[in-house]
Amino acid sequence: MYLGVDYYPEHWPVEMMDEDMRRMREMGCNIIRIGEFAWQLMEPKEGQFDFSFFDQVIAKAKTHELKVMFGTPTATFPAWLAKTHPSILAQEMNGEVRVFGGRRQYCYNSRVYQQYTEKIVSKLVKHYANEPAIIAWQMDNEIGHEGSDQCYCEQCHLSFQDYLRDVYAEDIDRLNEAYGTIFWGQTYTDFAQIPMPTHTVTTHNPALRLDWARFRSDSINAFAKMQIDLIKRHRGAHQQVTHNLFGGFFNRAYDQNVMAAELDFVSYDNYPVWGGLKEPLKPAEIAMTLDYIRGLKQQNFWIVEQLMGAQGHNHIGYLPRPKQAQLWAYQAMARGCDNMLFFRWRGMDRGAEQFCLGIVDIDNETGRKYREVQEFMHDVAQQPSLTTPIHADVAILYDYDNIQSWAIQQQSDAFDFTQEFMRLYAPFHSANVMTDVLSTDKDFSKYKVIVLPVMQIMDEALAHRLRSFVASGGVLLMGYRAAIKNRHNNLHRFMPTPAFIHDLLGGRVRESESLGNGISAPVVAKGGYPRAVATVWRDMIEPSEGAQVLYHYDDKFYKEYACVTVNAYEMGFVYWVGAGLDEITMSDVVGRVLEKAGIADKAIMDRLERIERSEFSEQGDGQNSVVWYLNHTSHPQTVQFCTIAPYSVLKRQLSDES
Ligand code: GLA
Ligand code: ZN
Repeated sequence: MYLGVDYYPEHWPVEMMDEDMRRMREMGCNIIRIGEFAWQLMEPKEGQFDFSFFDQVIAKAKTHELKVMFGTPTATFPAWLAKTHPSILAQEMNGEVRVFGGRRQYCYNSRVYQQYTEKIVSKLVKHYANEPAIIAWQMDNEIGHEGSDQCYCEQCHLSFQDYLRDVYAEDIDRLNEAYGTIFWGQTYTDFAQIPMPTHTVTTHNPALRLDWARFRSDSINAFAKMQIDLIKRHRGAHQQVTHNLFGGFFNRAYDQNVMAAELDFVSYDNYPVWGGLKEPLKPAEIAMTLDYIRGLKQQNFWIVEQLMGAQGHNHIGYLPRPKQAQLWAYQAMARGCDNMLFFRWRGMDRGAEQFCLGIVDIDNETGRKYREVQEFMHDVAQQPSLTTPIHADVAILYDYDNIQSWAIQQQSDAFDFTQEFMRLYAPFHSANVMTDVLSTDKDFSKYKVIVLPVMQIMDEALAHRLRSFVASGGVLLMGYRAAIKNRHNNLHRFMPTPAFIHDLLGGRVRESESLGNGISAPVVAKGGYPRAVATVWRDMIEPSEGAQVLYHYDDKFYKEYACVTVNAYEMGFVYWVGAGLDEITMSDVVGRVLEKAGIADKAIMDRLERIERSEFSEQGDGQNSVVWYLNHTSHPQTVQFCTIAPYSVLKRQLSDES
């Protein structure tokens, strides 16, 4: 198990290095991550490469028995490069150029930037290929984050048109047909006529906008793959390659699954609170991000930036309470992190991240945060259950095209994809049922339950897989707006809604209503109690013969329409929730799903997370031996006759559970 810190020795007098590393070791570190923003130090003038500073750092690290993860520095290019080649700078939708001074302002499609990237990365990796202390390379930093997923420069425009030529095999009529450009007289006669979806009067064609989102993701992943391939070509056999992915991943035009496939292992930057947030993410949402990261390669992962101090560039918000950041580190380990580095050793006094605090503050003293990390590191290093594979019976599915389709047309001003995803994820977390979070292209046939939140894009292939899953005994939980669109982001036509699967779901949607901010609709359980509330959206479901109505609408004109149904289909069952329902009702529906699937509901109380892990990796799927309890509250909680202090953990043998 690697445990360490993100270290920027170039920020400090070199005389501090020895003492820094001594205290790191005393804290429990065995690895440091360095280098990720130091291109200018490594190439102070074009073509003049100088790795002597990092040679010194690595030599020092070795005397302290610290291993090294080295970051390629392409997130922050030198000023001389921007000066000599301003074409590398990305552009906003309004044409404004992103000037030098921040980070990640480069255009992924800039041929010039690709060339300079090739030079620095090749030189760097070749220089250290035989360095035994360097065990891994981190490619760039949070690629696609902080708004860098979008660029509207001329190079991107030309690359987008080339992308479309390729997708539509040079056949402009195929594109016209797929887009429906006959609408508003937009028919193209040449790919060179096709715009980027920049500002226009009213709005662009939804199919064009989805192709643009796919192009953005392709641009980022192509740049990443170019660099990953370079690292693989020049690295030592003992060196692996990874990349540090960011949270908020559903809000970016970037499918992280594609890059994850190129990596030896996935790394994640885990910040439960960042910037001006008044409160941290809820434990369930942090858990969802960890399940998502684990799902990218369906294997455990690293965290290379685990929050320890309050963070923000221009605004700082909530201060993690004593032990709370330590608890988030335990939560990450319990949900599949095998190796962890904390961000960062010491906060910096100058530059843009003065308020991105680290373990050691600017007084350079050993304080509370140091002791919390030390306690954590010395404990988890002795916990075999925190590095074994995780088994889940439930998978919650997302789809890049579908996420982007919602980003393009929210349909309700109350719609937020992550929150609608959480609406169906959270009840499983409350039941302390381990879940995988997977892209639809992963194999989900072996699960007992699969969940599809707001899956409006549906093609026949996915429909067929869902049908097979249920027919062979699976339980499907489907959310609202199911299967209304095709992969071109256009409505399915001349067929019942939901397309391809209305018989599987057990009904048809006859009408729908957007429930915008502040709007809700009354819902009631069959039989008249309990009542429920629909927000954001509602589908009026006309149940088919044999489908059972669990909840229906309760307002004038719509009482005869179902809101929640369950349908038996061959060996399996489908639960269909046709609206954004309140927490209590969703908990009832998920309770029924779990019971139908034969999965134990292990709910305890809100913010008391329970995670089972096997202590021996050779144990079969789901054969767990220990239980981790995490108290995400500011009060002591009692579980199994044991008291857990605020923001603390308790580990017990499963065999001791009553
Ligand atoms: C991100 C980046 C780091 C740093 C931290 C600050 O995760 O990867 O370089 O900017 O945020 O919180
Ligand atoms: Zn560009």
